Amino acid sequence: MFLFLIVARLSNRYSNPQRKRGEVEKRDPMGTDGRSAAMAAKVAEHVEKLPPVPELVLRLRATLSHPDATFADVVPLLDHDPGLSADLLKFANSARYGVAHRVDSLREAVLYVGMGHLAEFVSTTFLERTLMTTYSSTKGMHQYVDHSRAIADRTRDLVRRSGLAAAHQERASLIGLLHDIGRLVLMLAGSTHMWLAVNASPESMAKFVEHEQDLWGLDHCIVGATICRKWDFPDIFATAIEGHHGPWTGAQVCPEAAFVFLAHFKGIAGIDEAMARAMPEPVFRQLHLTPKDIAGS
Ligand SMILES: [Fe+2]
Ligand SMILES: [Fe+2]
Repeated sequence: MFLFLIVARLSNRYSNPQRKRGEVEKRDPMGTDGRSAAMAAKVAEHVEKLPPVPELVLRLRATLSHPDATFADVVPLLDHDPGLSADLLKFANSARYGVAHRVDSLREAVLYVGMGHLAEFVSTTFLERTLMTTYSSTKGMHQYVDHSRAIADRTRDLVRRSGLAAAHQERASLIGLLHDIGRLVLMLAGSTHMWLAVNASPESMAKFVEHEQDLWGLDHCIVGATICRKWDFPDIFATAIEGHHGPWTGAQVCPEAAFVFLAHFKGIAGIDEAMARAMPEPVFRQLHLTPKDIAGS
């Protein structure tokens, strides 16, 4: 049933008449609809095979979604997963929290990381474990991981510069970490092992999605959004990932999608001038950023 829903959703998106249907059909004598349906079915199979979110992660997320959740609710759940507990202790002891002494109890680790960040931490840990076990043998995996981590860090930095609170920064960072997961599935389903760099220019971000559409009748943004829904991430994840190549073309996207998009160009020399020239100005206003924030390292 779930497989059917994914195929239907993927196929529906690409039957959108705004997708320059005539142009693609001319270049594709096999027939775009047939090719798209076949690729959508393959992608749906790959998505279906992804491991489900573990019960413990779901329980932790559900518990943490209550505003009055306490240590007493959370620590016993963490105790059930030694790997997750060890990761949390390591995280609390990292330079990021600047703790002067060694944190060696789960309760203290939760205190430093904060209940507000714990849901994102748990999801990030699940995501990294899943990626490493599911895609470890995929060629181009290390480029994918490097890219995802870099975008996660830069997205967090941009959200911080825009003045949003730490909870927003953590969430945006996790969206950044997950933003290109659809590319892994497309690489596997399309039997290609290419990891193409797309961050040289904003135009290449827009063209990359068109290229995927022309090649497969699918793009990684919608595949990524489908995976977010399968894993029950909050709706904002699917929305942001679906829109993360959109801002350059003037598409209306949520702030999180725009932060992830801009993170791809952070620190590139002269990017502020290019952005000021061509990027719709309301995008920056909406984010409380200026093109100079993108140029800054
Ligand atoms: Fe992307
Ligand atoms: Fe990306």
